[in-house]
Amino acid sequence: MSAIIIDGKKISEDIKREIKLETEKLKVERGITPGLAFILVGENPASQSYVKMKGKGCDEMGFYSITEKLPVDISEEKVLQLINQFNHDPKIHGILVQLPLPIHINEEKIIAAIDYRKDVDGFHPINLGRLMIGLPCFKPCTPAGIQELLLRSGNDPAGKHVVVVGRSNIVGKPIANILLQKQIGANAIVTIAHTGTKDISIFTKQADILIAAIGKAESITGDMVKRGAVIIDVGINKVEDISAKSGYRIVGDVNFESAFKIASAITPVPGGVGPMTIAMVLKNTFLGARNIIYS
Ligand code: GUN
Repeated sequence: MSAIIIDGKKISEDIKREIKLETEKLKVERGITPGLAFILVGENPASQSYVKMKGKGCDEMGFYSITEKLPVDISEEKVLQLINQFNHDPKIHGILVQLPLPIHINEEKIIAAIDYRKDVDGFHPINLGRLMIGLPCFKPCTPAGIQELLLRSGNDPAGKHVVVVGRSNIVGKPIANILLQKQIGANAIVTIAHTGTKDISIFTKQADILIAAIGKAESITGDMVKRGAVIIDVGINKVEDISAKSGYRIVGDVNFESAFKIASAITPVPGGVGPMTIAMVLKNTFLGARNIIYS
């Protein structure tokens, strides 16, 4: 048996088509154009590339977007001032400060300064608190994308044992909370394994749905997976590959070749979770403009 490949690129295109249609309606019926402000500090190539892709997504949707590129030595105070300006700008419905930030800038302080009603990343403590107690909120984009991938590929997590490997604030903790809720599209039994877990394979082997968000290339292998499991690979890791023109290739946290033979469905890297994150940023911006969550 080999697995079905869950095509995140195609599913994200379906979602973007839906957002684009709804955006056209929003413009005609209410005269509102969704607006997203990006704040990019420094020259981190990965951050630059992510912001560029998200900006391109805005253009495709017919959103207004603005990118403020700030030098790496900008003061925390200046970033806070810019956030305050966007908080009060009626053209802006979403504010996204690309992480990581330089070490002299306090990330928690920056995130808390964003108006939670414009926090399309879903990182503000108010949104994360509301997420935990099952209230409407902006959901962090990668976890929201994972939930959509599961539902749209016919893998409802209800009643399933979901094992999340990784406990980051951006992926592990929020996806566990989302899938734990007593709500449609969730209601799973959730286990979180992490760096403090002695032998993660004891847990991964019990997963009906395995979510790998570890940040270590190909660290989950087929022998650690239950036959027929659904695997969601969140990892984006660069590994050296002398046969590639660039000298490297991108792999996930799961060893695709061995896991593919055991799983019933698996996301590829690239082309799985990555495109879904971008689609969810756009969806959250639309929701912000439509005033759906905090009306
Ligand atoms: N850095 C890595 N992932 C993300 C994300 O989803 N949002 C922001 N703002 N920064 C990130």
